[in-house]
Amino acid sequence: MDLEAVLEEMNELVEEGKVKNIGVSNFTPEQLERAQDLSDTKILTNQVEYHPFLDQEELLEKCREMDVMLTAYSPLARGEVMKNEVLEEIGEKYGKSPAQVSLRWLIQQENVCAIPKATSEEHINQNLDVFEFELSEEEINRIRELKGEDRKVDPDFGPWN
Ligand SMILES: NC(=O)c1ccc[n+]([C@@H]2O[C@H](COP(=O)([O-])OP(=O)(O)OC[C@H]3O[C@@H](n4cnc5c(N)ncnc54)[C@H](OP(=O)(O)O)[C@@H]3O)[C@@H](O)[C@H]2O)c1
Repeated sequence: MDLEAVLEEMNELVEEGKVKNIGVSNFTPEQLERAQDLSDTKILTNQVEYHPFLDQEELLEKCREMDVMLTAYSPLARGEVMKNEVLEEIGEKYGKSPAQVSLRWLIQQENVCAIPKATSEEHINQNLDVFEFELSEEEINRIRELKGEDRKVDPDFGPWN
């Protein structure tokens, strides 16, 4: 894509008041930096896949340096977090499911927010019920150790479902 042209158009929409903030998706640290260089208004967020099984440390560092939010998509690894014993064990202490522990782990990190998708009312309510408990430093590090390269989405191919 012609990033310069797209951002120019998007900046115009911000100036006209039709768009509040600009965000990008599936951008590498280098692409994010380039986008901000080309944009007069601030890039608010970079939406990328992020969950306990996918390492995003390098990108997260760049986001923090640039004060950009990392919006975690597929934050439950498309439901796979439910099968993880470490997440289950940590959740038992708080009366929370592995999905809730994963979401809590994400949002407890600086500059991270998460957008889980759920179809049942039960899951939607569970996913909102993650603001009243706090993981310890030790638990955070235990979950960090689960990280790998387990991508659920190929960011080069859309549309997403
Ligand atoms: N920008 C991009 O390139 C991109 C790419 C992919 C996805 N996304 C966005 O990211 C959002 C979420 O990602 P996603 O749908 O790929 O994956 P996800 O949110 O990690 O996983 C969704 C799956 O988790 C289950 N689930 C939800 N809450 C649960 C809970 N509390 N306990 C147990 N299971 C639960 C859902 O089941 P039920 O349906 O039964 O509740 C569904 O099967 C979507 O809105 C999507 O648009 C963006």
